Amino acid sequence: MSLSEGVSRREFVATVGGAAVGAAVAGSTVAGAQAKRRYAIVGTGVRGIGMWGRPIAQEYADVAEFVGLCDINPLRVEVAKKQIGVSCPTFTNFDEMMDKAKPDLLMVTTVDGYHSEYIVKAMGRGIDVMTEKPMVIDEKQCSAVLDAEKKSGRNLVVTFNYRYSPKHRTVKELLMKGTIGKVSSVDFSWYLDTRHGADYFRRWHRLRGKSGSLWVHKATHHFDLVNWWLDADPVQVSAFGSLQQYGKSGPFRHTTCRGCPHQAKCPYYWDITKDKNLTELYSNCESADGYSRDGCVFKEDIDIFDTMNAIVRYSNGVNMSYSVNAFMPIEGYRVAFNGTLGRIEVRDHERQSWKPEDATEIHVIKNFGQREKISPTGSTEGGHGGGDTRLRDLIFRKADAPAHMRLPNSRAGAMSCLTGIAARKSIDENRPIRIPDLVKLT
Ligand SMILES: NC(=O)c1ccc[n+]([C@@H]2O[C@H](COP(=O)([O-])OP(=O)(O)OC[C@H]3O[C@@H](n4cnc5c(N)ncnc54)[C@H](O)[C@@H]3O)[C@@H](O)[C@H]2O)c1
Repeated sequence: MSLSEGVSRREFVATVGGAAVGAAVAGSTVAGAQAKRRYAIVGTGVRGIGMWGRPIAQEYADVAEFVGLCDINPLRVEVAKKQIGVSCPTFTNFDEMMDKAKPDLLMVTTVDGYHSEYIVKAMGRGIDVMTEKPMVIDEKQCSAVLDAEKKSGRNLVVTFNYRYSPKHRTVKELLMKGTIGKVSSVDFSWYLDTRHGADYFRRWHRLRGKSGSLWVHKATHHFDLVNWWLDADPVQVSAFGSLQQYGKSGPFRHTTCRGCPHQAKCPYYWDITKDKNLTELYSNCESADGYSRDGCVFKEDIDIFDTMNAIVRYSNGVNMSYSVNAFMPIEGYRVAFNGTLGRIEVRDHERQSWKPEDATEIHVIKNFGQREKISPTGSTEGGHGGGDTRLRDLIFRKADAPAHMRLPNSRAGAMSCLTGIAARKSIDENRPIRIPDLVKLT
């Protein structure tokens, strides 16, 4: 049966998601105390280390014990062990780690295209899994993950940290309260600047086969927010995309910024040697796998888009016009919800050449009424506007949360990825794509 057939969104979430996922992943309670989880990570790059490695070792040692670290790069996994500050064994073979270290909780932070392989294997061994976004990069992987979860009876959490920053929660709660009546449409534009945007074109993200393109790698965050904000499923997507600044569009090229003869004239030249941590973790480990962290943004093999637009139709009749552009002079976004009683406008200023009055501006504008400024409450300390810290607490400390703030499950992972997968397919096939046609639930 398709995702939209036979089981309603609410029934599915009630069965598979919510508190059940959080409790299962956080560990059982023994006489009031939380049992320590045997915790392992596969994919020990910056995200594995900085979000799911070092903070867990330093702040959650009472509830999680590192039993293994795995990466295909034998040099990087050793650097990661040192940077995380743990003494557990390291592995380059996942099955060997699972056999020897016997984790009961796995964090997947590899390159996107390999998430599904490890999720499926771990669940087949009866392990709870957390995965970084995107859950998967194509519809085949999506079906495999959903099937594996169902068959194993284990739980999968997709760590959508964006939901947990105060600004995004504030928007969710304004919409839940019916502040602007029934939502009729959404305008959503995400801006990646010449620093952050360009960085995707230096690394594996530049290849569809590894990242699913920015439609999946990056936009999965945004599509998850919209699915959650609207409490609705995406149904149909029409999209356009092009590569205008990077890849073949560039005026010259080399392999890496290090040693490039065009350094002096290239606006995207970036000197990785100035960053001690990244040099240690990537450049010094290149001999093992050939992965260059400072690859040329003009490489001819780049097969993703830097300019993307889509119209998405949702199950509640809402239409969204969405765009993401990856070579902007600003980093941030605008999102607006148009409703029967008015409009919510959000402008997020993440990086720009001027100092904005507020990092995030949220306004409610009532039809025939006034504009009201809304101030999000809650700490923004830590990565992704405070979202990273809150998410770790929810997972490892079983922190209490209202229903709408519970951990995102595989269904959320699937729906957000499928929007991007449908957009990519819509461009390739020059036609609208229906999401229920992409994945069948067994
Ligand atoms: N939620 C967020 O805000 C956020 C932010 C950054 C990254 N991420 C996600 O985290 C993940 C890791 O990102 P990153 O920036 O650390 O990437 P990275 O390239 O720095 O690290 C990925 C690691 O995976 C390893 N790897 C590659 N293929 C592998 C395989 N087949 N098996 C095992 N290991 C393999 C690489 O050697 C590398 O060490 C990605 O899925 C990314 O989308 C999420």
